[in-house]
Amino acid sequence: MDKLKVLTVFGTRPEGIKMAPIIKVLSEDKRFIQRVCVTAQHREMLDQVLKIFNITPDYDLDIFQHGQSLTQITTRAMEGLEKIVKEFQPDVLLVQGDTTTVFAGALVGFYHQVKVGHVEAGLRSGNLYSPYPEEANRKMTGVLSHYHFAPTIAAANNLLVENYPSEKIFVTGNTVIDALLRVIDDSYIFEDSFLNSLDYQNKKIILLTAHRRENIGEPMVNIFQAIKRVVEENNDIEVVYPIHLNPNVRSISDKIFGDSDRIHIIEPLDYLPFANLINKCYLVVTDSGGVQEEAPTLGKPVLVVRKETERPEGIEAGTAKLAGIIKEDIYQMISELINDRRKYDEMANAVNPYGDGNASEKIRDILINDYFNNNSF
Ligand code: UD1
Ligand code: UDP
Repeated sequence: MDKLKVLTVFGTRPEGIKMAPIIKVLSEDKRFIQRVCVTAQHREMLDQVLKIFNITPDYDLDIFQHGQSLTQITTRAMEGLEKIVKEFQPDVLLVQGDTTTVFAGALVGFYHQVKVGHVEAGLRSGNLYSPYPEEANRKMTGVLSHYHFAPTIAAANNLLVENYPSEKIFVTGNTVIDALLRVIDDSYIFEDSFLNSLDYQNKKIILLTAHRRENIGEPMVNIFQAIKRVVEENNDIEVVYPIHLNPNVRSISDKIFGDSDRIHIIEPLDYLPFANLINKCYLVVTDSGGVQEEAPTLGKPVLVVRKETERPEGIEAGTAKLAGIIKEDIYQMISELINDRRKYDEMANAVNPYGDGNASEKIRDILINDYFNNNSF
């Protein structure tokens, strides 16, 4: 019997985490011939993910350069990918999310008339410049895609409003939940002695991540200053900040946090310890997309330090709040969750608006059904 040839393409840490469960499911199914291509838009942060999920890419474009521009990422990824698409001739090219790798992958797929499957389709903030350039990447990828794998009904509705054909939109859940549910362990012990030494019972551990391009500059200064003030005013707070490798983020962090006691800046964590750190901490403050999905699933209040979010589900469920990028607002919102137990408990509910952990299997079944039953190829 004929097999369905799938090229999975990704380049950064979050894409790797969210693509890993799909790669596993497809690799275990004899009806597929799958090849994995990493652009390596990220290098160290991607390699961490490949190692954790035991993925050996068939192709590694190794495009990473320090200080890479968006244009460089796009052109280097496209040139490398084109050769692979010509050689492998996939039936389907899968991309995940909204990075520049995703857009470049979708465009190469489209140029070669390969059916593009967009995983995590339909997220919209409504502001083309926030997140930047991700809102544009996901919209442009949508235009080029044949399959829109929407994680939620709200995301599917965004696509319907934009007049995408309903028969190409599939609500699958988010593969981030597939990955998360496989690594969380309530009795997890960190390999790192510092993370093990933190007093998760008696101290309030705030987990911070911040890296968005549109926050680099004044917004990030505001976020860090608000956190610093909270720490200075509350002796029972410890902040753990696994910092992104972007030097622009690091220089702002150095300037504001310096060597502040109880603000612990550590290197990016492997996914296993990071996910389990969410599970053990008191509160999450983040501008990340993926972390916004993980924290509600684990019942951790999350303050989103951005102007808008394309992930309203956590907010509607009450576990996430949009804290914005104004220093005083962020300070007030963190302080409230530290000092008002009732407000904290209202938010600390495990809700799972992002899926049931079987998104990858659903995506597999949709592809198989379309290929073998609908003869749409
Ligand atoms: C990229 C994505 C963003 C995603 C984020 C996940 C784009 C435009 N942005 O942003 O959507 O949320 O990844 O983390 O696609 N660096 C390293 N080593 C690494 C990775 C990054 O040193 O392994 C440093 C480099 O100096 C690099 C900088 O970080 O120039 C920025 O990396 P880049 O991939 O361009 O953008 P991110 O901000 O990571
Ligand atoms: N993450 C990780 N180690 C860290 C910080 C984050 O493994 O030190 C994981 C996190 O669990 C989530 C993903 O990386 O799944 C989010 O990546 P990031 O915030 O870089 O990108 P975004 O989701 O904003 O695109």
